Amino acid sequence: MKILITRTIKSALLDNIPKEFEVVMWKEEDSPMPRAELLREIEDADAVFTNVSDQIDFEVFERAKNLKVVGTMAVGFDNINVQEATKRGILVGHTPDVLSEAVAELALALMFATARRVVEGMNYIHQNQWESWGPYLFAGQKISGKKLGIIGMGRIGKILAKMARGINMEVLYSNRRRDEQTEAELNVDYRDLESLLKESDYVVMLAPATPETYHMLGYEQFALMKPTSIFVNVSRGSTVNEDDLYKILSEKKIFAAGLDVFEVEPIKNNHPLLTLDNVIAVPHIGSATVDTRDKMVEITLNNILRGLKGERLLHTVNK
Ligand code: DGY
Repeated sequence: MKILITRTIKSALLDNIPKEFEVVMWKEEDSPMPRAELLREIEDADAVFTNVSDQIDFEVFERAKNLKVVGTMAVGFDNINVQEATKRGILVGHTPDVLSEAVAELALALMFATARRVVEGMNYIHQNQWESWGPYLFAGQKISGKKLGIIGMGRIGKILAKMARGINMEVLYSNRRRDEQTEAELNVDYRDLESLLKESDYVVMLAPATPETYHMLGYEQFALMKPTSIFVNVSRGSTVNEDDLYKILSEKKIFAAGLDVFEVEPIKNNHPLLTLDNVIAVPHIGSATVDTRDKMVEITLNNILRGLKGERLLHTVNK
């Protein structure tokens, strides 16, 4: 049986793959397997180890004659046509939970970095512009005692809420469904989206990419936020209308944005959002800590091997 791995994965865990499996791995580090190569290699693959940079769509499934398992090294699976996979009896596994703390930590990092203008301050020093201490030099926003609004209260949201409570933030959330148990356990309050945007000092997007969440935040929604408020996205770029976000930030109607994800990835350095001093952008690194990525590799491999042996996956997304 053939396992196709679409990125270079340097991990001793690959040595645990039983010898009866043929492993075909894309060997160019830091670049995804080209689409044409993926379409060719998938033809006789029994399983594919994939990630957010591949589109596992109808065409891929049409080409794949033997495919039994898709294992994505991610919690999000909007790049996979799960409905088509399910129709064809192909299992789709993902890696929730192990990355929740890392993603929540990056949300906090972006909150702190934008609030305290860390990158602007660093650039100022690099450009040799610092001549004296100033009473309001790079004065930013406080975090402790402020209100965090979480859009999408799933696994990552709950961990972020806990962390935020630990730094004395009040936490609001908005979600498809109200969750009274979480409210009691974490001391968080539910708000509809409009009220959450109006009241929060920090708004963190954690809703997954679905047809319902596509562009759920546009000019009208951002305009509800306070001029001192900060927007952070560590979920998926498609949840936000980026033209509108650019407009609201350049009109200084919100204070700043911290972005890990974009509508088109990789974002190009001539993108309008990257011309703004009040935007901090990082390249989709929410789960990128070494130990988290090790665990994601382990679960993805486990999902694949289990699927090939006809066992239940550790985490499946087929409905
Ligand atoms: C995920 O797991 O969905 C992340 O976005 C990838 O790091």
